[in-house]
Amino acid sequence: MDPTPSVVAVSGSLRDGSYTRTALRYVLDAAEDAGAETRLLDLREYDLPVYDPDVGERGDAAELTRTVREADAVALGSPVYHGSYSGALKNFHDYCGFDEYEDTTVGLLATAGGGSYGSTLDHLRITVRGVHGWVLPHQVGIRNASERFEADPDAVDGRAFVDPDLEERVGKLGRMLVEYASIDPDVTTPRTAAVDD
Ligand SMILES: Cc1cc2nc3c(=O)[nH]c(=O)nc-3n(C[C@H](O)[C@H](O)[C@H](O)COP(=O)(O)O)c2cc1C
Repeated sequence: MDPTPSVVAVSGSLRDGSYTRTALRYVLDAAEDAGAETRLLDLREYDLPVYDPDVGERGDAAELTRTVREADAVALGSPVYHGSYSGALKNFHDYCGFDEYEDTTVGLLATAGGGSYGSTLDHLRITVRGVHGWVLPHQVGIRNASERFEADPDAVDGRAFVDPDLEERVGKLGRMLVEYASIDPDVTTPRTAAVDD
């Protein structure tokens, strides 16, 4: 792996004032502070037609999949839509496969208008596992998103977290993406220490 890990975040909300996008920017800031090169893929900025297996890659799909393929770690963020993740992120995910996620560390974040985000994170975890991504145990759910930020001109996107514990959880996701960016695929083999025990 490159000595400077690369961390890419994919935002699954196309909404102008998206809280998911803001939270992912905080994740990337923490990753950058931990020594990573970072990039946000804001899906509203790309031409990504609904995936059609008969056609394959279209529009900006090749650039997006290449960026994920080359990343050491990927943060996926989605609004909670009907208890799952957004169609925009699912469509992006449908363009991706083992080539993009094998040996890639993945961090998850979900933003809910209401109180529950568990199924969104579960659906992300299952579908990333399906393409062999290494999903971190630490994940972030933001409930009642509109109440979690306050205006601050000096903050990311002009929004500061109201709750320092939530800000810490978000930052931890960025730090862990860097810490585990080069997770060893052989991690499942018995450790020497275990043999000595
Ligand atoms: C189509 C749609 C479905 C939604 N479904 C849910 C839901 O099931 N549960 C919930 O808590 N919020 C739901 N919401 C609200 C969003 O999760 C909430 O507004 C979130 O903050 C949006 O994220 P964003 O700010 O990144 O766009 C839904 C919103 C939309 C547009």
